[in-house]
Amino acid sequence: MKYYILFGPPGAGKGTQAALLVEKYNLHHVSTGDLLRKEIKAGTPLGLQAKEIIAKGDLVPDAIVEGMIKNEIVSNQDVKGFLFDGFPRTVAQAEALDKMLAELNTGIDSIISIAISDEVVHQRIHHRAMIENRADDANDETIRTRIANYHEKTEPLIAFYKAQNKYFEFEGEGTIEEIFGRISKHIEK
Ligand code: AP5
Ligand code: MG
Repeated sequence: MKYYILFGPPGAGKGTQAALLVEKYNLHHVSTGDLLRKEIKAGTPLGLQAKEIIAKGDLVPDAIVEGMIKNEIVSNQDVKGFLFDGFPRTVAQAEALDKMLAELNTGIDSIISIAISDEVVHQRIHHRAMIENRADDANDETIRTRIANYHEKTEPLIAFYKAQNKYFEFEGEGTIEEIFGRISKHIEK
């Protein structure tokens, strides 16, 4: 069983690359953002709690996403591997994930990081806002908060995974196919 993390700032192209990677390598895609949006759509208590937080561009509490991830891992042990997208996003989440996998006598194989500048983040999110209807793409203040949260709370994971020799960074500017090619080469190594 392989465990990959797709890492990068908001709008880096994680969801876009994940769709191609899961198809090519037969992985189970776990996007905490997608799972939370599903809860919001279904109007569950968790969804109601997450809705306001997401609309502001803040992170939902670690315990909530950790519970969702644990559920995905234990209920999908028949797959070839997992591709986590948008998780972990804090050092506490990364530690919780290491612990969950250690209990299964396994661990993360690699962190696939898509690197793009804040300027391109803005461009891609503005572009998506015209196509999709995501509450957190709707205004500049929310987008700025998401980027600030990424730098403050998520970027420390780079050092965390570098210390484990599991961090691999890919240039995220270029066509979708070019970036997919770079990541595919890494997975096939
Ligand atoms: P989440 O859904 O994970 O959002 P995000 O991290 O902000 O990332 P995005 O989904 O916005 O971007 P992406 O990297 O997937 O890019 P995409 O492929 O769409 O999280 C949403 C919220 O949920 C969070 O803010 C938080 O509140 C909460 N949350 C989620 N996980 C959490 C966690 N673990 N802990 C706590 N809270 C959590 O691409 C973007 C656009 O660019 C698209 O239009 C796409 O077509 C385009 N594009 C992609 N690649 C290219 C390219 N190469 N060239 C040109 N355009 C491109
Ligand atoms: Mg996404």
